[in-house]
Amino acid sequence: MTNIKPNIVLIGTGGTIAGRGDSSVNASAYDCSILPIEEILASVEAAADIANIGAEQLFQMGSENFDSEQLLTLGKRISTLLRREDVDGVVITHGTDTMEETAYFLHLTLDSDKPVVLVGSMRPPSALSSDGPLNLYNAIVVAASPQATGKGVLLVCNDEIHTARDVSKHSTFKLEAFSSPYGPLGVVVEGRALFYRAPLRPHTVSSEWSIDCIEALPEVGIVYAHGGIRPATIKAMCDSGVAAIVYAATGNGNVARQLIGSLRQARSKGIHVVRASRTGSGIVVRNGGQPDDDYDWLAAGDQVAHKARLLMMVALSTSAAGSAQHARSDTAALQRILQEY
Ligand code: DGL
Repeated sequence: MTNIKPNIVLIGTGGTIAGRGDSSVNASAYDCSILPIEEILASVEAAADIANIGAEQLFQMGSENFDSEQLLTLGKRISTLLRREDVDGVVITHGTDTMEETAYFLHLTLDSDKPVVLVGSMRPPSALSSDGPLNLYNAIVVAASPQATGKGVLLVCNDEIHTARDVSKHSTFKLEAFSSPYGPLGVVVEGRALFYRAPLRPHTVSSEWSIDCIEALPEVGIVYAHGGIRPATIKAMCDSGVAAIVYAATGNGNVARQLIGSLRQARSKGIHVVRASRTGSGIVVRNGGQPDDDYDWLAAGDQVAHKARLLMMVALSTSAAGSAQHARSDTAALQRILQEY
């Protein structure tokens, strides 16, 4: 009989899904990033009915330690795999802490419409009622689904399929840790991926970047607003050599009066200033809380601060020739990007 199962590559990077506790009741205190990817895959026997699965270990680390180096290494490895005719999709096991950041970076930069799915777990495989094996099984189901083609990078957790653009982790311990402001794209039920919506914003093949052309990502920092915030926070960020500061402001991107001077000074030194919101939802309106046109600042729209940071890093990335990609470093071009993606 002809083998019509898709070929999926599973990439292990660590996290709780690769964790192990001393006892089955250790659902919060356990060692992360221990189990090799082959062992994690072996615990999900039913996945072999869905796809031919090859496994490789790229990293073994908590995702809180991920930096530009890991993003670029992972992105370039996935890109190489997706170019192969004998690879139909990729699943990445990942710590949940920054899983949405890696997913969004890949969503913006991978140049392929083949399914790419990130998956993690909130409880290690050694814990009672671990969500690891079912999450992984569901992720493989999604990667093997023809409906996942062209939908950008996806994140699967707790029976839900989320678009990388929108999803964020919203709980430190619950199994339903991930949610998207406009809801999931679909669900996985009994080994079937059911999609109800598709992402509209540009991604993967329709985005203007390609991981293959990105050599370096600039430093972009986030400053988190709070009552009584001091200008020294902005100065310290500028002194650290960032290309842009995303200010996770209060409400609709409001900036405390004592910060205006230091943020304007940052901009006069060439550092971009992006107003986002610490509220976690809603839209920061250009020229709303602050006169962005006058100050040459940027507004993040509906994007949360940590995703706006990644979008700025990609927009200001440098190519092999060492130049800013497509010279997109002026404010108008960056504002267009923040509005479009
Ligand atoms: N060390 C954390 C991480 O890798 C564990 C969190 C998790 O995977 O759930 O993101």
